[in-house]
Amino acid sequence: MKYVIINGSPRRKNTWKMVEYAKNNLKGDFEEIHLMKEKIPLCNGCYNCIVEGEDKCPHNDKIKPIIDKMKEADGIIIACPVYALNVTALLKNFFDHTAYLYHRPEFFTKKALVVVSTAGIGQKDVAKYIDETLRHWGVNKVYKITYAYGAKDLPDIKNIDEISKKFGKDVGSKKLHGPKLGDIVFFDVWKAMALSNNPIEADKEFWFKNDLVNKDFAPEVKLNIFKKLFSKVMFLILKRVIK
Ligand SMILES: Cc1cc2nc3c(=O)[nH]c(=O)nc-3n(C[C@H](O)[C@H](O)[C@H](O)COP(=O)(O)O)c2cc1C
Repeated sequence: MKYVIINGSPRRKNTWKMVEYAKNNLKGDFEEIHLMKEKIPLCNGCYNCIVEGEDKCPHNDKIKPIIDKMKEADGIIIACPVYALNVTALLKNFFDHTAYLYHRPEFFTKKALVVVSTAGIGQKDVAKYIDETLRHWGVNKVYKITYAYGAKDLPDIKNIDEISKKFGKDVGSKKLHGPKLGDIVFFDVWKAMALSNNPIEADKEFWFKNDLVNKDFAPEVKLNIFKKLFSKVMFLILKRVIK
């Protein structure tokens, strides 16, 4: 299996220690993207990625290789400490550069592990935010390991073992999970927007090129009859709202 680790900490210490323990339970090759070293300029809000296409981002030379590595990987690990009750600016800046993925999700076959450390507070909220971001990218299943170090040097190894083993087994199985209802709603929102009278051209091209406009969800992911029906009804409603 191939794993890519996006390290959102400027250093390799507390969060990295947790990643190292998790790695012990994962079989395969690992590649680390140490965001600190990538020196990605700040997102300048040009909207190019969203409106014109991600290849028009002025920092595409930095972003595309990272996205490509995530596409090649079977499992994505996002590691980040809590900074001022949020993710680090390093990780947020990377996420800002992936805003187009909210419109044009591409990671439906990927599973992810989120690793968050903190001194005292904020770890659950930060992990939840990263989880939400990944789900907007289309990621099929997100596992979370969080830990508040307090005055301790060692993380909760038992918890790391338990969750990372589940993650590794799931990645190895290649089996995709059914989406949550919320994931289906977002799929239908973007589909309805791509089919609207005034679409963002880059979105429209993506949804048509990948033949997603005729699907109830990403075709790799199987929907049960209830979710299929839910998607169809949701799309009909959204189509009326988004014209
Ligand atoms: C700039 C900065 C902001 C931080 N903000 C918080 C915070 O809001 N809440 C908290 O409990 N810990 C906070 N911490 C502590 C780190 O989250 C904690 O030490 C973490 O384990 C560091 O991980 P790392 O060694 O992987 O960088 C902060 C640390 C720094 C340097």
